[in-house]
Amino acid sequence: MSAQPRQGLALRCRPMQPADLARVIEIEVSVYPFPWTIGNFSDSLSAGYDGWVFESPDAAPGTIAGYAVLMWLPDEVHLLNLSVDAAHQGRGLGRAMLDWLCANLRLRGARSILLEVRPSNLPARRLYASSGFESIGLRRGYYPDQGGTREDALVMRKDLARG
Ligand SMILES: CC(C)(COP(=O)(O)OP(=O)(O)OC[C@H]1O[C@@H](n2cnc3c(N)ncnc32)[C@H](O)[C@@H]1OP(=O)(O)O)[C@@H](O)C(=O)NCCC(=O)NCCS
Repeated sequence: MSAQPRQGLALRCRPMQPADLARVIEIEVSVYPFPWTIGNFSDSLSAGYDGWVFESPDAAPGTIAGYAVLMWLPDEVHLLNLSVDAAHQGRGLGRAMLDWLCANLRLRGARSILLEVRPSNLPARRLYASSGFESIGLRRGYYPDQGGTREDALVMRKDLARG
């Protein structure tokens, strides 16, 4: 499957398969201090969640540079994971992936998309805010943090009907 996102970045994506998980987990452990396990990904696929892998135009063909996992609720979708390999960050891939996901969800009838983000994760917060997500609440102590403490999660939501 291919898509032409807004900025003209040629993006290739396809559904995540169990065979992709070795590469996905390689990226996951390198970009998060508290990464998902391979079991979290395989359970998500087994549960029927949406998993997508994305190639970058500046990577060798077939090389996974980013991925996303989403859970469908009755009329809303929960974005559980959105990640770009560190070597490909800062070049528009995350925004292109998010644009493609929102367009895909809209076509499939979702009305809104919801996510949690660490307040300390400024790159992600800027991406979401500039993509039309609004902060709608806080989940106290949602994330594990260094030294055994917890970090709150900002809850953000985007109305897909508004574009
Ligand atoms: C968040 C993430 C997906 C963004 O992907 P990316 O490909 O690097 O992002 P893009 O290059 O498309 O940039 C999109 C926007 O993000 C913001 N952004 C990206 N990198 C940033 C940085 N280092 N500092 C500040 N803002 C940044 C900017 O608003 C940018 O828009 P702009 O280029 O118009 O200014 C990526 O940094 C990532 O995978 N991080 C680790 C995993 C993670 O935290 N995922 C989100 C969990 S909620």
